[in-house]
Amino acid sequence: MNVSERIEQRIARVAIIGQGYVGLPLAVEFARAGFTVVGVDNDVDRVAGLGLGQSYTPDVKSADLLPLLANGRYTPSTNFAVLEESDVIVICVPTPLRKSKDPDISYVMAAAEEVSTHFRPGQLVILESTTYPGTTEELLLPMLEARGGRVGENVFLAFSPERIDPANGKFQVRDIPKVVGGVTAECTRLAALFYGQIIDRVQPVSSPKVAELAKLYENVFRNINIALANEFALMCSRLDVNTKEVIDAAATKPFGFMPFYPGPGIGGHCIPLDPFYLSWKMRLNGYEPRFIQRSTSAAAASTALGSSPSAWPTSARSATRASRPRSRSS
Ligand SMILES: NC(=O)c1ccc[n+]([C@@H]2O[C@H](COP(=O)([O-])OP(=O)(O)OC[C@H]3O[C@@H](n4cnc5c(N)ncnc54)[C@H](O)[C@@H]3O)[C@@H](O)[C@H]2O)c1
Repeated sequence: MNVSERIEQRIARVAIIGQGYVGLPLAVEFARAGFTVVGVDNDVDRVAGLGLGQSYTPDVKSADLLPLLANGRYTPSTNFAVLEESDVIVICVPTPLRKSKDPDISYVMAAAEEVSTHFRPGQLVILESTTYPGTTEELLLPMLEARGGRVGENVFLAFSPERIDPANGKFQVRDIPKVVGGVTAECTRLAALFYGQIIDRVQPVSSPKVAELAKLYENVFRNINIALANEFALMCSRLDVNTKEVIDAAATKPFGFMPFYPGPGIGGHCIPLDPFYLSWKMRLNGYEPRFIQRSTSAAAASTALGSSPSAWPTSARSATRASRPRSRSS
């Protein structure tokens, strides 16, 4: 039986590398849908805790984890040998920045190294970590090809960005449309079929690069708009106007406007970092993205106001209170 049939019948064995804020909820969702899922992580303590049913993310309750552990649908593991038995492998490892603010792709490389070491013909491999355009085809594909993988024939490779917003009660894994871009049309079809088992809306795109860029565009968009809101709060302060009142008034426009509110620096562990993945890649292509440069320095300027809202001008403070973001965001 091939991987397509195994997915359709929900008997495909799934391995999800990285059991963090992204990987764990995804693993639980596939386990709930009937798949047998192994959550592979190199953090021994995290795996031990998960094995005891201790969830550390608000999106997975320990009470949800325990029955899946008991019936064997979900198993946390540090053993990468399970990759060999897996039909589908999803990579959800961190993509931080180096001190130089260049992408630190070492976690993705380490995970991809394990995937290629344990490659077995017929597998579907999907990268979810937020990364620069080209990662899937420039880094992962050659590693699989070096092990005898022929993409679209005996290995299927795709990028599908994660958009989870931890602790968001309204939009959980299955409610958030999934963008999927495979290296070949068959790779896209299989990845879309896979996510379609747990997610209502899957949006196929023509390549991994489109999917990689879609995620970066979403987060650059947020970064720039929050930076604008931060600068706008400074302007309102000088004009002695309440920022939130202005933004709320503007937000009554039913089209062409989306409200963003100021805060003490741009929060979350993705939004302030991800734009650097794009600007790094563009610089290699001889282009300096000016909007990203401006938004990242505007963020720094607003942070200079102080991390405590009490240090903020009155108008900015009231806007911040009203719009305090969740602690983590995609
Ligand atoms: N957290 C979010 O809100 C969010 C939303 C969308 C996208 N993302 C992106 O998803 C990716 C993962 O983010 P996260 O928040 O889940 O990270 P996280 O730090 O919460 O979890 C990552 C997990 O990967 C494990 N890990 C690291 N290297 C490994 C390796 N080589 N093999 C096995 N396990 C390994 C770590 O031990 C950790 O448990 C990042 O690229 C991030 O930018 C995050």
